[in-house]
Amino acid sequence: MYNSRIIGLGKYVPENIVTNEDLSKIMDTSDAWITERTGIKERRHIKKGDGNTTATMALKATKIALERANIAAEDLDLILFATLSPDYYFPGSGVVLQDLLGIPACPAMDIRNQCSGFIYALSTADQFIKTGMYKNVLVVGSENHSGGLDMTSRGRGVSVIFGDGAGAAVLTRETNKERGIMSSHIYSEGSYAEELSLIGPSTNRWVPEIIEANDPEDLSYYPYMNGQVVFKNAVVRFSEVINEGLKKNNWLSTDIDMFVPHQANLRISQFIQKKFGLSDDQVYNNIMRYGNTTAASIPIALTEAWEEGKVKEGDKVVLAAFGSGFTWGSSLMVW
Ligand code: ACO
Repeated sequence: MYNSRIIGLGKYVPENIVTNEDLSKIMDTSDAWITERTGIKERRHIKKGDGNTTATMALKATKIALERANIAAEDLDLILFATLSPDYYFPGSGVVLQDLLGIPACPAMDIRNQCSGFIYALSTADQFIKTGMYKNVLVVGSENHSGGLDMTSRGRGVSVIFGDGAGAAVLTRETNKERGIMSSHIYSEGSYAEELSLIGPSTNRWVPEIIEANDPEDLSYYPYMNGQVVFKNAVVRFSEVINEGLKKNNWLSTDIDMFVPHQANLRISQFIQKKFGLSDDQVYNNIMRYGNTTAASIPIALTEAWEEGKVKEGDKVVLAAFGSGFTWGSSLMVW
């Protein structure tokens, strides 16, 4: 049995910055409302014609991660692609990325666990590496939200929150059992599936059915979120799954050098920070700049924390996420 360890990180966000002020010009919202409720000041949106797709953003993040890992794309044994906004309904974005990377053939798998997608993918990579089946695994989270949001006042409760971007991590086999991923903990509770969902088009509501109905009031092809139910469940599940990880590894919250939460809402992160008695130096937040980039949010934040020298060799790092499904999870690692 081996451990798995992250040896390269990268991120990419589109150049186009959309501020709260920009949004308040196209819908009934304000910088004050968005800042107070979410902490978000701006996010990145793909601009039509800028060449960005879910897979091409992932490619840009991956190239940086591979270079930092000093690994060639051909040396990857597996691609795990976490996204809720794949390039196509099918096939998944993993195979598109494989082609863009110029790898003739390797396994590529999409992970459909929304905001928890990166934690689920990391946990999956860890299992493949631990058993010795694969040596080098790419885990990438990428989201193209902007094109599918209701950018009118009707959609303001959801559309102000989400942003586009990608983050990537290269994991490899580690023989030192004191380094790398120590444990992962993943959960789901499908009874809440429709509280944060995009219902149509789907196999429950095929496109021809939507076209035939021709109903201008049909909102089923926009994401729906019951914000308060999400919020209430998030704070409980975040706490549970972090505590489970700490207990499993005999760590105290004071042992945590860096906590990188999924960037769902600054108020959720601050609640968790307070609950675990963490200082500002122990928590990394960048939701102010990127909004919620779902599966990409943890790898983008982890990349920035590493680039800023806030994650160093030997540090105890805790990642945790909660999102649509509902799904949630944590990953505890020694850097
Ligand atoms: N600007 C101005 N007003 C708004 C906006 C907006 N963008 N959005 C909603 N409002 C209004 C509502 O219409 C409502 O008005 P009313 O009182 O006249 O009816 C009022 O503001 C309050 O709305 P609430 O929805 O009750 O606001 P709340 O305090 O719950 O904040 C929010 C909403 C920010 C969405 C919050 O519930 C939240 O952050 N929830 C968690 C979301 C989350 O974490 N998602 C992560 C998972 S995402 C994933 O997995 C894909």
